[in-house]
Amino acid sequence: MGSTLLRWRRLSMSTWESRKVLRVPTVPLANGLNIPMLGLGTSHHGGFSHEAVVFALQQCGIYHIDTAKRYGCESLLQKAIKDSGVKREDLWITTKLWISDYGYENAKRACAESCKRLGVEYLDLYLMHWPDAHIPGKSSREVRAETWKAMEELYDKGLCRSIGVSNFLIEHLEQLKEDCHITPHVNQVEYHPFQRPQDLVNYCRSKNIVFEGYCPLAKGEALSHPNIVHLAQKYGRTPAQICIRWSIQNGIVTIPKSTKPERIMENCQVFDFRLEKEDMECLESMNIDRKVIHLTYPLWKG
Ligand SMILES: NC(=O)c1ccc[n+]([C@@H]2O[C@H](COP(=O)([O-])OP(=O)(O)OC[C@H]3O[C@@H](n4cnc5c(N)ncnc54)[C@H](OP(=O)(O)O)[C@@H]3O)[C@@H](O)[C@H]2O)c1
Repeated sequence: MGSTLLRWRRLSMSTWESRKVLRVPTVPLANGLNIPMLGLGTSHHGGFSHEAVVFALQQCGIYHIDTAKRYGCESLLQKAIKDSGVKREDLWITTKLWISDYGYENAKRACAESCKRLGVEYLDLYLMHWPDAHIPGKSSREVRAETWKAMEELYDKGLCRSIGVSNFLIEHLEQLKEDCHITPHVNQVEYHPFQRPQDLVNYCRSKNIVFEGYCPLAKGEALSHPNIVHLAQKYGRTPAQICIRWSIQNGIVTIPKSTKPERIMENCQVFDFRLEKEDMECLESMNIDRKVIHLTYPLWKG
């Protein structure tokens, strides 16, 4: 496996260099913008590498970066973007509003602060990070609606080119539909072979909400599963490429995270092969409704 991977890397590097940059397909949002199907995730707990972000932007043609106030790396991203030399208009930057900033005024302030930390004048996508909301004396639904009104205002003013939510279930989306005007453009939710919330995917599609999947590798846990290892061998790819390709082939925008340049290169080489129907079905059969994101901290803390 190790030597296959090394061989693959050498091969892919030379192919890559001749091709220079990848053209990542995009998915249209309801407002006509196009979100790149593949982005680079960032996160807290060692989830950020300056070198890796610069490499992704300069060498891989990955211009979609996913971050969040919660991850604490927005300012670091500003520096990485600047060092990459990539123009702002060529980037797709998503960041997220953390729940300690929910509420109408707080949300608007938090957006401005995120923009300042990122060194940008606008965001391509701003997401409410989580459906739970804690403001004394108000229900979660009231807080979500009030917060979403601020998101709508940020959108109307052009500070956010698109707005969305994350980790919202159908009931949260239904309530928002009753309480607000603009349907979220995106819902970002955990999605990998162990966690395939097809009802939510179908619901989002029926409402013209783009479904974006996070943790496409199940935080690395999917990579040693025998089915995935078998498919990697069958296609001469790596387990990570099989998982990412599966998301993309299902029409899911996906944002694998790596802090290692060689893995970022690997993770973006997923547009030159197709998984056969029976192999897609094999991966679909692995769904056990298992999440790898567990909240171990009080949600309402910043
Ligand atoms: N909205 C939300 O609530 C939410 C929640 C979680 C995550 N997210 C977003 O989704 C992104 C991805 O999620 P995630 O980082 O939790 O999980 P993930 O992308 O499924 O997995 C990341 C893990 O896999 C490793 N990895 C990456 N590429 C690899 C490869 N080719 N071979 C072997 N290992 C590889 C990484 O290690 P190395 O870094 O060492 O390569 C890291 O440990 C996050 O960065 C964040 O932007 C959003």
